Amino acid sequence: MRAGDVVDCHVLVIGSGGAGVRAAIEAARYGETVLVSKTIAGKGGCTPMAEGGYNAVLRQEDSCEIHYEDTLRGGAFLNEPDLVRILVKESPQRIDDLIRWGAVFDFSNECELPQRPFGGQRFPRTCYAGDRTGHEMMMTLIERFDSSGATKMEEVTVIDLLKEGDRVIGAFALDENGDPIVITADSTILATGGGARVYDISTNSSSGTGDGFAMGYRAGAELIDMEMVQFHPTGAVYPYDARGRLITEAVRGEGGVLKNALGERFMKRYDPVRMELSTRDVVSRAIATEIANGRGTPHGGVFLDITHLPREQIETRLPVMLEQFLTFGVDIRTQPMEVAPTAHHIMGGLKITSDCSTTVPGLFACGETSGGVQGANRLGGNALAETQVFGKRAGEFAGQKEKRVKRIDPAQVSQVQARIESFFCGTENPARVRKELQCAMWQGAGIFRDEPGLKDALATAERLLRAPIQAISPAGVAECCIVRNMCLTSRLICRSALIRPESRGADMRVDIVQNWDAEHSPYGHTYISEHREGIVRHGVIA
Ligand code: FUM
Repeated sequence: MRAGDVVDCHVLVIGSGGAGVRAAIEAARYGETVLVSKTIAGKGGCTPMAEGGYNAVLRQEDSCEIHYEDTLRGGAFLNEPDLVRILVKESPQRIDDLIRWGAVFDFSNECELPQRPFGGQRFPRTCYAGDRTGHEMMMTLIERFDSSGATKMEEVTVIDLLKEGDRVIGAFALDENGDPIVITADSTILATGGGARVYDISTNSSSGTGDGFAMGYRAGAELIDMEMVQFHPTGAVYPYDARGRLITEAVRGEGGVLKNALGERFMKRYDPVRMELSTRDVVSRAIATEIANGRGTPHGGVFLDITHLPREQIETRLPVMLEQFLTFGVDIRTQPMEVAPTAHHIMGGLKITSDCSTTVPGLFACGETSGGVQGANRLGGNALAETQVFGKRAGEFAGQKEKRVKRIDPAQVSQVQARIESFFCGTENPARVRKELQCAMWQGAGIFRDEPGLKDALATAERLLRAPIQAISPAGVAECCIVRNMCLTSRLICRSALIRPESRGADMRVDIVQNWDAEHSPYGHTYISEHREGIVRHGVIA
């Protein structure tokens, strides 16, 4: 790498979704901030694809205490209580920021923010901009970013974190031509989103490849609860190219009902009280069970029906759904949708404290890249809130760190260079490796899990992690690095799932009989890092 390719800054933010951009806006108040995005900032990532809404306590009848309890109960009591307290307290302030900056959320005639019910919540607290909430947020954040003084490097892929001793001091990256760039920083924030693209069927954009988990792990950070993968109950089942695409929970929030091929409203068998607005882990398992027991639709899903709702409600509150299904040849005003579960969100991630520091000095994480806020199962609407609450915190606390002299270790540069060069001698097509991995994960580490299945998926991930993948041009190196990150993320998911000897939240083990419920479980977080692996049992890491 040439000396001229070194960029120095105070705060480096990796990732340009809601959390990353919010972090950069905040960090820019403290010093030179660079945001690096492997896509065009604001266009990739999962935030712009998040449709349904943002949870915030805004009404007197609601309270932070109820939001806190709902989040813990929904998360099967695996959440970090202090982080949840921060989430529920600060999310109303962060939605205020967005509105001040110009975000157009839906407003009622009384100039109030209407809130829709989402699953697992005792109060309708999900604010929305129709069914394009994340898109609206992202447009607003990017506009604000542009006047924040922070700079962005787009179509630049970070391939590893740069370290000086124990401390992270920036990152190695490749530009769109595959040319290397070294970025040094006093603080580095990982905000690369999640990694549900490691599954064959997923709501995630192509950037949900687990880069932050993998880079954090290689840098020595501790990750928690990586087995906790959320399958959103309602993804599209056809046409084939749209498989897994998000059908927002807002459809059920607006009154949509789920029916099997026999016309039964089957949720009465699984959660007769909350029905379609049960938590996502329960609804996904219910749908998967109906399909597995032969009560699925011709395309292998179940029906999601809103034909009983007034046309105007569908047209104004769910315009994206309406338009999307019209392109599939289905008019949801008169015909039911067909849906099935799809990999959506990773609840686990880098272990953080309330200031978003990880276990590695100089390294911060926020949003889906971090773990602990959402426990074993996230409530719909809590992710967008998390991006803003913890994005701001990460930017603020990273920005407050002192400036320092950074020394680049030539040995680490040579190692990264050797890794890059090895891809030119590879023989395996990265697209084939990616597909094999995704199928193995869907098969062995999906909604229902057992030990043999997890071990199979793990063996595949480990084998593919060592596969000699090939870059046919310098521009192809980034893709090879990303596929390796996907293999490592999958390995972390499977190993963590094998460590947890119980069913909890989204992690359902069909081969384990247990006599406790989540609230009384003897187990806490799973931990995984280069240095140790284990699970908390009765408060002690075993
Ligand atoms: O269903 C949805 O609109 C997704 C929301 C979320 O994951 O929070």
